[in-house]
Amino acid sequence: MAPLILVLEDIHPEGPRRMADHARVEWLLGASRAEVLAAVADAEAIIVKSVTQVDEEMLAAAPRLRVVARAGSGTDNIDLAAAADRGVRVVTVPTGNTVAAAEFTVALMLMLCRRMPEVLARMSARDYRRHLLAGRELSGQTVGLVGLGNVGMAVAERLTAFGCRLLGFDPRAANGDAFERLGGRIVKDLDLLLPQVDILSLHVRLTPATRNMLGERALTLIKPGAMVVNTARGQVIDDHALLRALDEGRVSAAAVDVLHPEPPFDAEPGTTAYTHPLLGHPRILATPHVGASTEEAQRRISLVLADELAAILGKSHLTV
Ligand code: MLT
Repeated sequence: MAPLILVLEDIHPEGPRRMADHARVEWLLGASRAEVLAAVADAEAIIVKSVTQVDEEMLAAAPRLRVVARAGSGTDNIDLAAAADRGVRVVTVPTGNTVAAAEFTVALMLMLCRRMPEVLARMSARDYRRHLLAGRELSGQTVGLVGLGNVGMAVAERLTAFGCRLLGFDPRAANGDAFERLGGRIVKDLDLLLPQVDILSLHVRLTPATRNMLGERALTLIKPGAMVVNTARGQVIDDHALLRALDEGRVSAAAVDVLHPEPPFDAEPGTTAYTHPLLGHPRILATPHVGASTEEAQRRISLVLADELAAILGKSHLTV
């Protein structure tokens, strides 16, 4: 029998269409955890994004599982060690959404510079006093990029065109030379970078070292009035410390595309009680993890996964 591939989060349909050449593809969106645990029993591959927790419990419920395909780059929702112990491969698409995420990050920076959360709130209140809404130009701002992997570097490249001064810090000391070739300056200690930045943009993976990296202490060191952009993972910021920094004016505005916990990605409006302390603040621009959500990126990722799964699951069932 053809292997079963279970699609657990919404991905571009073109990849699964191709997968159907050699596998049974079933979509299971909006299912409860219990339903997912029951369904994975027969699956040889599952496809997830950032919401589904692929932990020991799920792996134990999936004895036939050979591949976890992550439609994106982050693996913080996957227990990599437990997967390795069970011989389950984890496949990601590390550069599939780099351009989308980098463009979105720059868009968020521009939105914060022009005070868009306040502008839109005033427009909704039919308050048209533009003299109260003078913003800043992105040109000339000192941007601190924390994390110089694929996305951090792609943001740096784009910001050179805007005439920003670039400072960079990477916890793993990655890409220092390439960053400096772009005209950026590496700062080896986050504590020394924070007091210099007009805009701080986070591009790190979620690891024990980066969890709450932007907490009370860091937000005391940050340059007064700085703006913060987080397109990495919600847990990199201490939410309550950020709210205090905003209310005390240490941070002037923040854009967060990532929240922890993540909002339920498939809930119809009005059917979820989800809320989050960062939602509704007048100087926070919050979006539901859409940095990678472009047609191009999602199609690319879906097709790469189709190729990967074809290579791994192969056509062995056809000879049985
Ligand atoms: C990623 O890890 O690739 C991005 O955060 C986008 C996503 O999870 O969909």
